[in-house]
Amino acid sequence: MKSIHAVEYKEEKLFIIDQTKLPLLEETIITDNLERISIAIEKLEVRGAPLIGITAAYALALALKNVSAENKRKVFNESYNRLASTRPTAVNLFYALNELKKVFEQNSNSENIFHLLLNKAIEIHEDDIKLCEQIAQNGFRIFDKKCKVLTHCNTGALATGGNGTALNVIRNAFEKGMIEFVYADETRPLFQGSRLTAWELEKLSIPFSFNTDSTAAVLMQQGNVDLVITGADRIALNGDSANKIGTYNLAVLCKHHNIPFYIAAPSTTIDKNCVSGKEIKIELRDKREVSYVGDKQITSTDYDVYSPAFDVTPGELITAIITEKGIHKAPYNFSNV
Ligand code: MRU
Repeated sequence: MKSIHAVEYKEEKLFIIDQTKLPLLEETIITDNLERISIAIEKLEVRGAPLIGITAAYALALALKNVSAENKRKVFNESYNRLASTRPTAVNLFYALNELKKVFEQNSNSENIFHLLLNKAIEIHEDDIKLCEQIAQNGFRIFDKKCKVLTHCNTGALATGGNGTALNVIRNAFEKGMIEFVYADETRPLFQGSRLTAWELEKLSIPFSFNTDSTAAVLMQQGNVDLVITGADRIALNGDSANKIGTYNLAVLCKHHNIPFYIAAPSTTIDKNCVSGKEIKIELRDKREVSYVGDKQITSTDYDVYSPAFDVTPGELITAIITEKGIHKAPYNFSNV
């Protein structure tokens, strides 16, 4: 049962939990406006690779509501391009937009195009709910004892249409008695761990603490981490996986400490056009996100900042990649997945 609905389509509008406010405020953005939804994606009011795709799919469908026949193609293309420009790394965004594009191209003369696009958006959303459950089932196989687990960023119900990827593996394993404790990296600079993962873990009654990202090494050295599991934003055919900045650090640390490092993601996160991680476009974020913490300036805005939102973990550092199709191990070849 899904308890958190990060994005809901109701009354011809999107209801989006504003993730920039959590966990202190639980506010909902209610809109059917393409520009407002695009800004919500850019500002990470809604975020997480699968959820970005789902949100964009609804937004693109809504953009075609009440558009005259002669303007449909122009509005579709402009809306597609606006949404595609929001965040470059999560391939789920482009997967979802392209699924709607196929529907548009096959039915561009239909009077019913809004409903056809909307049905596709709903299908992508419902599929993701099932993918999340299957990932959790498959992921259970990595547990052979009760574990202390470390995770990074947020990969739960706030990041997907369903109950999550990596965090759903943790949730399912906890329900089956295989999770002792969860360490949540705070995940600088936007704190998806200390704000969002913590909020979800609290709701799930899973024992946890959060830590600064740089504390992960010490936790491993102290023998407190049995395994690390994270999500991904784009996976190349050779298993190289882009995920929130700091994920690569964890994989390197795991190798040193001989700790298994897992990624959990739906097959919609595999980019069939991407042979290796070198081809993955990494989003660079505004320096304000680092020179400020929230609204508080902590250093001079004159200083240059390098702030990639994601890094790429080489496939050979990943013990296994868990998808809805199974548990995949190196050497990876995702051409047929
Ligand atoms: O910048 P974000 O918060 O959208 O980044 C999210 C992540 O890196 C997640 O780990 C990834 O999207 C997988 S979510 C199931």
